[in-house]
Amino acid sequence: MSLFDKFASLRVAYSGLESAKSNPFNVAFDRILSPTEARIGNRPILLLGTNNYLGLTYNPAVIAKAVEATEKFGTGTTGSRIANGSYDGHKRLEHALADFYGRKHAMVFSTGYQANVGILSALAGKGDHLLLDADSHASIYDGSRLGPAQVTRFRHNDPDDLANRLRRLSDTPGDKIVVVEGIYSMLGDTAPLREFAAVKREWGAYLVVDEAHSLGVLGATGRGLAEAHDVEADVDFVVGTFSKSLGGVGGFCVSDIEGFDILRVVSRPYMFTASLPPGVIAAATEALHQLRTRPILRERLLDNARQFYYGLADLGFAVGPEPSPVVSAIMPDPETAFAFWSRLLEAGLYTNVSLPPATPKGLALLRSSVSAAHTPEQIDHALGLFAEVGRAMNLIMPAESLMEMREAV
Ligand SMILES: Cc1ncc(COP(=O)(O)O)c(C=O)c1O
Repeated sequence: MSLFDKFASLRVAYSGLESAKSNPFNVAFDRILSPTEARIGNRPILLLGTNNYLGLTYNPAVIAKAVEATEKFGTGTTGSRIANGSYDGHKRLEHALADFYGRKHAMVFSTGYQANVGILSALAGKGDHLLLDADSHASIYDGSRLGPAQVTRFRHNDPDDLANRLRRLSDTPGDKIVVVEGIYSMLGDTAPLREFAAVKREWGAYLVVDEAHSLGVLGATGRGLAEAHDVEADVDFVVGTFSKSLGGVGGFCVSDIEGFDILRVVSRPYMFTASLPPGVIAAATEALHQLRTRPILRERLLDNARQFYYGLADLGFAVGPEPSPVVSAIMPDPETAFAFWSRLLEAGLYTNVSLPPATPKGLALLRSSVSAAHTPEQIDHALGLFAEVGRAMNLIMPAESLMEMREAV
């Protein structure tokens, strides 16, 4: 008996992928040349599976700030935010985030994952209730497991189901905390946030919105879905990440609720880990500045998103319910997703394979994400490769099967 016997069936599937030399979970790029181009060996690869929505990873000002801060303050803080790991830069970034969102308080975490885990586990205490959208990201589920609160799932993007569940809990003591996302990372769909806000008001619940994929993407100034739907006043906590539109790493939470700062000495994923290195903090601060001052990036991103989403739909692929920088083609099964992914990579296009349990409804997805840095020609080239591989694999569907797959979404 081995300690790892419990993973036996997974091991078989994984070694099958390894031997087929098409393991989407083990790709290493030899060079990254720009936000949209890389090399594997000598082969040029067009990147269409990153979360680099604004293409800021190679922005000269962002890089210069990271270098300057690293030279000045060193490569790491070697300590927790509540010990030796808070520098002036961490504080300034928190002020910049609070200012951007027009909120009183902001806390920076070492990743977006830790921001969700740290906020949810601390907010929802014994006797409280967390109500999670069924399609929530793993970090939201993990955060709900770390704390003592009772967890209830409601149907994805279904405010009526949420209202029913809150009604059933109305005689139960304890705070009710509802968690939804701005853009969902698997199919690129958005939450019906106005309806959720109305439900939360009616039942006196708190609302947390994870804007990981919508920061810098939605809203007149890029604050996310709550801004786009004009319900920011109803959102009690916004969680986000620096690892997508800001092109770095790190996470945050902002709020107006008095007493928020107590979380700094309560939230274990904030306290018991090293703080972000000064260079990473400086890069995120500059990237946020770029996001605020260059709305053109958001416009380009959304143009590219529409071009790719409608392009794939027109080709006859079953895609998610609305245009978004995350565009997933629904595959009939995981094996087809692997084969499609592998042929695209051979042709020089990098995308993602997403499978259950990360995907909703057990779907196998070939997930792409576009960037403001893509040119319309690159998007066209990617569409051409999807068409070529789709035809070769008989996956460009007749209209009736397409309708069936779309209805399943
Ligand atoms: C909705 C959502 N929340 C949080 C995270 C975690 O972000 P990070 O990569 O900064 O840990 C992700 C990452 O994919 C995400 O999709």
